[in-house]
Amino acid sequence: MIIENLISKKRNKEELSYNEIDYVINGFVNGSISEEEMTLFLQCICECSMTDEEIYSMTDIMVKSGNVLDLSDIKGIKVDKHSTGGVGDKTTLIIGPIIACNDVIFNKMSGKSLGHTGGTIDKLLSIPGFKVDLSQKELVDSLNKIGMCIISQSDNIVPADKKIYSLRDKTDTTMSIPLIASSIMSKKIACNSDKILIDVKVGKGALLRTKDEAIQLSKILCKIGKKYNKETACIITNMNNPLGNMIGNSLEIKEVIEVLNGRGNRTLRELCIYLSSYLLSIAKDIELNVAKEFVLETINSGKAYNKFLEFVSNQGGNIKLLKYSNNIIEVRSNKEGYITNIDALIVGNIVNKMANKDGHDYSVGVEIVRHVGSYVNLNEVIAKVYANELYSNNLIDAFTIEKDKKEQRILEFIIKF
Ligand code: URA
Repeated sequence: MIIENLISKKRNKEELSYNEIDYVINGFVNGSISEEEMTLFLQCICECSMTDEEIYSMTDIMVKSGNVLDLSDIKGIKVDKHSTGGVGDKTTLIIGPIIACNDVIFNKMSGKSLGHTGGTIDKLLSIPGFKVDLSQKELVDSLNKIGMCIISQSDNIVPADKKIYSLRDKTDTTMSIPLIASSIMSKKIACNSDKILIDVKVGKGALLRTKDEAIQLSKILCKIGKKYNKETACIITNMNNPLGNMIGNSLEIKEVIEVLNGRGNRTLRELCIYLSSYLLSIAKDIELNVAKEFVLETINSGKAYNKFLEFVSNQGGNIKLLKYSNNIIEVRSNKEGYITNIDALIVGNIVNKMANKDGHDYSVGVEIVRHVGSYVNLNEVIAKVYANELYSNNLIDAFTIEKDKKEQRILEFIIKF
């Protein structure tokens, strides 16, 4: 086989066979296909898409590029939760401890930041000492001991996703339904949980911009889950504005702690309560309202926060050593009125540009002081930038301030399959 011929075949709208996709994916993993060739292949998928059959093949090949976790030594229902990526999306770190406090095992493999979206793994790596590369034994021991664990793609589990994900990030080949679906589901299948919940984000700060795309992705995610006999549900949520008040790795950990203590941004808190309740209801096969009571009790009693601390220390992290940039720049409103929009794409790009300095600067980010729906006076502080020298004073461009109020609706498109 020759990669150029496979790319031409795809461009001619012919379906690639399992063996042809296998040749490309494994060729890239073992080095016989170069980054340049793989980039052309990924660009071709972004333009020409893939059939369902091709997406199933791609997912299966990525799963088989490594091991599937053996969870047979772990008793009880195991669940997994994933987000397709957004700006300020730290929901996994809030939902995981809530679920683990309710006798359900929370087992998850996450990715680093992709494009302008933030990655759960980067947020965790902002905690000094936190280990995301655990052996299979360490993972199973953690799940048995504390009921939750979050790891990164590794050389043993979905190595193909690790390598392709990093190339997609560098080559702007992130916004493709087949690539997102196979990337997410290969991780979910390799992690081998029984039930999967996916928060499909749509809007300016998400990888997908339209409701139709979000529905299309949700359908294929559920179909892949079904093929592997995993109960899979997708909930589509709005990602036009940043989620929560903090955007940036260590700042988001600070916000996780606030929400787990019953405080913090209302929209973020409500979304986490909804997603946790939904996940718990499918895990335990109980009514959503009953699950919500369990979730609220777990937060109000402080159990979820204590579980988060247990999880961090179990994976070697020291929360007391979290660092935030002390170069804080205030952003002031340039008119009086209601904040009607905060462009998540602008905010995500500002934070990622600063964070990508010399490897990674986890201490930078943005704090939104006045969110969508607030009335602000001229020259009032509406945000703070925890900056480094890569900040170019452009955060004000993200804010729209108008005479009339508009509400931010997060659970705009709830669709369950
Ligand atoms: N999350 C993933 O794991 N992969 C993607 O491609 C997008 C979001």
